[in-house]
Amino acid sequence: MAKQQSAEPPKNPVLDEQDSKIKEKLGQIDNKIMVMSGKGGVGKSTVSINLAIGLSLENFYVGLLDVDLHGPNVPKMLGVERGELQRRPDGTVGPVYYSPNLKFMSVEPLLPDKDSAVMWRGPLKMSAIRQFIYDIEWGKLDYLVIDAPPGTGDEPMTIAQTIPEAYAVVVTTPQEVSLLDVRKSISFCKQVNMPILGIVENMSGMLCPHCGKVIDVFKRGGGQKLSEELGIPFLGRIPVDPRIVTTGDAGKPLIAAYPNSHTAEAFEKLVRNVINRTQAVAAEQREKKVQEAGEKS
Ligand SMILES: Nc1ncnc2c1ncn2[C@@H]1O[C@H](COP(=O)(O)OP(=O)(O)OP(=O)(O)O)[C@@H](O)[C@H]1O
Ligand SMILES: [Mg+2]
Repeated sequence: MAKQQSAEPPKNPVLDEQDSKIKEKLGQIDNKIMVMSGKGGVGKSTVSINLAIGLSLENFYVGLLDVDLHGPNVPKMLGVERGELQRRPDGTVGPVYYSPNLKFMSVEPLLPDKDSAVMWRGPLKMSAIRQFIYDIEWGKLDYLVIDAPPGTGDEPMTIAQTIPEAYAVVVTTPQEVSLLDVRKSISFCKQVNMPILGIVENMSGMLCPHCGKVIDVFKRGGGQKLSEELGIPFLGRIPVDPRIVTTGDAGKPLIAAYPNSHTAEAFEKLVRNVINRTQAVAAEQREKKVQEAGEKS
């Protein structure tokens, strides 16, 4: 008699073991936030880094995961290029330390030299990102900030699949074309069921180095208008500030290098809004789960 075909795919013990390790590691991290955008160069890495430092300055334990495998900018922008992973006596490996309560992981410490290019495609990228979670001892964290490459490709998709409880922060610039791309990020989040914490408008007006006031060079307020239109909270606007480029290149992010500046204040407002929104969305999600459980029983 022919054997009956099972509808379930065959089990893969290696993947199962990885999945249970991922679950265990993620269980120690309270909030996971992916910073994404539809378009390149809008300031995701800048926002991720200043957000992570801002959260760590509020005494939270923070991890920063750079899943931009082809252009890992986090180590350079943090001033920790060729940083050492922590190799522990028990054989486990921990992320690179930036400060006592901020640690980060990127593909950069694994490359033979800083000019090496990553040539990986789909499945290899997915397994590298999974490995960044199950093979790295992140320890107990309040926040894990994830810096994604632009678009809705393998990397954000892997995060959505591997960290189903992650939230998204969408970065945009005020121009029309960038706002069109935001809609794509938002539709990605809807499709993968990732709650959106809100929109950040970066390069929103320019901080005049002479008078210290914000001048409207591009259209300002587009991100806020879009957030109102779409009913998605607005998390804040960061002005164009030439010091963001110099501090990024020098490896001392603005929020740490110029803590009393107008731009650092804008980042601090963003940090507070992210904390408040995370708490609100986490409460909504808990309520949703209770309701779903109630409907099932
Ligand atoms: N508000 C700002 N004012 C001035 N320069 C900025 C601002 N935000 C970002 N930049 C600069 O713009 C460039 C791109 O920023 P960043 O690398 O953060 O963007 P990204 O979205 O992560 O790019 P990619 O899509 O390539 O990952 C960097 O040189 C950065 O210093
Ligand atoms: Mg980037």
